[in-house]
Amino acid sequence: MKIDVRVTGKTKLLGLIGNPVEHSISPQLHNSLSSLLGHDLVYVPLKVEKQNIGAVVNALKRLEFVGFNVTVPYKREIMKYIDENTKEAILMGAVNTVKNIDGRLFGYNTDAEGFARSFKEESGVGFAGKKVVIIGAGGVARSIAVKLAKKGVEKISLVNRTPLKAVELADVVNENIREVVQVYNFNDKTFMMAFEESDIIINTTSVGMFPDVNNTPVKVKNRFHKNQIVYDVIYNPVKTKFLKDAEKAGAKVINGLGMLFYQGISAYEIWTGVKFSEEDLSKIFASFKKILKM
Ligand code: ATR
Repeated sequence: MKIDVRVTGKTKLLGLIGNPVEHSISPQLHNSLSSLLGHDLVYVPLKVEKQNIGAVVNALKRLEFVGFNVTVPYKREIMKYIDENTKEAILMGAVNTVKNIDGRLFGYNTDAEGFARSFKEESGVGFAGKKVVIIGAGGVARSIAVKLAKKGVEKISLVNRTPLKAVELADVVNENIREVVQVYNFNDKTFMMAFEESDIIINTTSVGMFPDVNNTPVKVKNRFHKNQIVYDVIYNPVKTKFLKDAEKAGAKVINGLGMLFYQGISAYEIWTGVKFSEEDLSKIFASFKKILKM
């Protein structure tokens, strides 16, 4: 029998709490990073029922977990159990990464950081002075809108199926960061104009995600053009109808796989203090795509 020496009495722990967690690829990503760097760390998925979150967080603290990720549906709920959330995470209304320092828990949001890093890596373009459309006003949209406002975009045109949620999101950003968000209705002529004059279009909704692959969140495919960068946070399918329509019009398109990857990289950097080089990151990203067969 081959003796597995991966986990010993000294191994430190990382985890993921959420429900469900079975589909998550974070264990593969983080355990591969630890193997690559020779860190004696193991990352385990932990399915948690809502009424047990407090007890579980307490247990993770007592068990001296180095840190943990939080996924759907607890990214907001977790915040009340954290000792110190970053200002940015508070504005985003969500925490997906927690670091445990001597029994004190620090909450971060690396989702939007993942978005920003993947956007920069895949487009080579920065955000300062750009005009952006964000479709959707849920948790992901909020994190991205906060990040983009902080990174100096000129304007965010926000549309959502439920307009009231878009107005609430706009208020958070406009009142706390900068006055950059304007809310539109999908069918407004002014939205069509905002769409056309925007440099970056981002879908944050689940519309178009497998198995709903023939659907798109905007029925304005003729409004895409070749000077736009179009980003879909969805990565399954690899190219949504939204991205296909944009590509046909000559736009540069990016899917959400990089966001998923870089939110994990940013979390790992927070837990371990390690900083990956650009070269390492592109190699690791290539392997990560292989794990996912993408
Ligand atoms: P997440 O954390 O992934 O952002 P969420 O907070 O549930 O998830 O937000 C989902 C977003 O997708 C919302 O903007 C939602 O629109 P509503 O605010 O109107 O619910 C949007 N969305 C989901 N399904 C949709 C659909 N079939 N058509 C249009 N928008 C949809």
